[in-house]
Amino acid sequence: MKHLLSIDDLSAADITDLLDLTDHMVEIGQRPIPKVPALRGKNVVSLFFEDSTRTRTSFDTAAKRLSADTLNFAVSSSSVNKGESLRDTIETITAMGVDAFVVRHRSSGVPQMLTAWTTASVINAGDGWHQHPTQALLDCYTIRTGLNRRDGFDGLTVAVVGDVKHSRVARSDVDAFAKLGARVILVAPPTLLPTHVETWPVEVSHDLDSVLGELDVLYLLRVQRERMDDGLLPSLREYSTCYGLTAARAGALPGHALVMHPGPMNRGVEMVVDPGELPGSVILHQVANGVAVRMAVLFRLLGAGTDLKGHA
Ligand code: NCD
Repeated sequence: MKHLLSIDDLSAADITDLLDLTDHMVEIGQRPIPKVPALRGKNVVSLFFEDSTRTRTSFDTAAKRLSADTLNFAVSSSSVNKGESLRDTIETITAMGVDAFVVRHRSSGVPQMLTAWTTASVINAGDGWHQHPTQALLDCYTIRTGLNRRDGFDGLTVAVVGDVKHSRVARSDVDAFAKLGARVILVAPPTLLPTHVETWPVEVSHDLDSVLGELDVLYLLRVQRERMDDGLLPSLREYSTCYGLTAARAGALPGHALVMHPGPMNRGVEMVVDPGELPGSVILHQVANGVAVRMAVLFRLLGAGTDLKGHA
C-alpha cells in the first residue's frame, strides 16, 4: 500500500489488519513515554487547505509518536497566496525530501491528483464531499472496541443521521461499516440525502424516532452549513426538532448503544443533549483512537521493512 485515498482502496481484510495494528499503537500510547523509533528519519508534511482541529493535530501527534519528522505547511502564509499552483507547491516540497503528504482540500479528488506529482505517499485527510478514510477507520476501531466486535460487524445496526449529502465522513463510514458487515440506515430529510442513494449499501429512513430502539450505534453528522445552498432546511430549529439528539431520544436507545459524532459538534442543532451526560457517548474515544489509527496508517505506508522499534 503506497497511498490511502479512499475506503474503496481497502478490502474488509485490509481494514481488519489496520485495526489489529491499531491495538499495538494504543498500547504504545499508554506507555509513560508514548514513543517508538519506527519512522525515524521519515518526513511527514501536513498540507491543510481547509480548517481542522482534530485531524491535523491527530496526524501530527501520530507521526511524532513514531519518531517521524513533521512539517506543517501553513497554506495561509505560503506562496499559494502569490498564485503558485498546487502542482508547483507539491513539486517544490517533494524536492526537499518528503515521505508522506497528509492532505485536506475542499475539492474532491485533490489527493488523487497529487499522486501524479510526487514520489511520496499521499494520505487523504478529507477531500470535499468525497472521502475521509482515516475518520472511517477510527470510527470502525471505536465501534469494535466499544461493542467488543473484533470479528466484524455482522448483526450490528448503525444509523448515520443528518447531513449525508455534504458529508465525506458519511461516504467513508458507510463503505467501511458495510464492508465489515453492518446494516446501515441513513436517517435524514430528503433534501440532505445524496442523489443516487439507491446505489449505496444502505436502508433509508426519514424518521429518527422509529429506528432508535433497534440501534447498536447512533452516528450523528454535523450539519455542514458552509457547504449548503440555502433552502435545504426550513430552519435549524426544525432540523433539531426532527433529527437532533435530545435526552428523550437518547433514552429511547438500547442501553448498550454507542453515540458517535466526528466533531466539530453543533450544540443545540444535531446535539441537543450534553454528550458528557450520556453513558453511551464515545465521542472522545473517537478522538483518542484517531491518533492510534493514524499511527497504524503511517506505519503501514512508511514502515516497510522495519519493526516498531525501527529495526530492519
Ligand atoms: C469532519 C471533516 O472535516 O470531515 N471532521 C473531522 O475530520 N473530524 C466532519 C465535519 O467537518 O463535519
